[in-house]
Amino acid sequence: MAELRLTVNGAPRTLEVDDDTPLLWILRDQLGLTGTKFGCGVGVCGACTILENGKALRACQLPASEIAGRSFTTIEGLSPDVSHPCQRAWMEEEVPQCGYCQAGMIMTACGLLNEHPDPNDHLIDTVMSDSVCRCGTYPRIRKAIYRAAAEIREKKSSSP
Ligand code: FES
Ligand code: FES
Repeated sequence: MAELRLTVNGAPRTLEVDDDTPLLWILRDQLGLTGTKFGCGVGVCGACTILENGKALRACQLPASEIAGRSFTTIEGLSPDVSHPCQRAWMEEEVPQCGYCQAGMIMTACGLLNEHPDPNDHLIDTVMSDSVCRCGTYPRIRKAIYRAAAEIREKKSSSP
């Protein structure tokens, strides 16, 4: 066990953890942030996706020994009131079925839009195909990404 300091959703946290504990389990078991899901544990399903500086990362692949001093955002920290354009678009397009994969999908989409504010089908499919949805919601995910992208661009163009 060692002391670990990191920032999650803007709040500094100090924890006692084993060096090899993945961030996914720190978030879920120690911080109670259960929106980040366990799917495969080996970095291939995307259910555990979070953001660091706007970039999507897989929390199951980040051991405690590598995350000291870093700052992460989980689905709970995306907005205080479910008002992030991706969250709104997901609701408008009624994307989720069982919902299990969807927090990871939204965080992956945020990472995509942070890098590419005006994506096309090919880019969306390329990035999102690394995340697995057993319910097959991919067409609605693509629609929601276009909706969120349009809202983000509109907000940017109308902000002073
Ligand atoms: S649980 Fe992390 S990628 Fe599947
Ligand atoms: S909505 Fe069920 S796994 Fe994606």
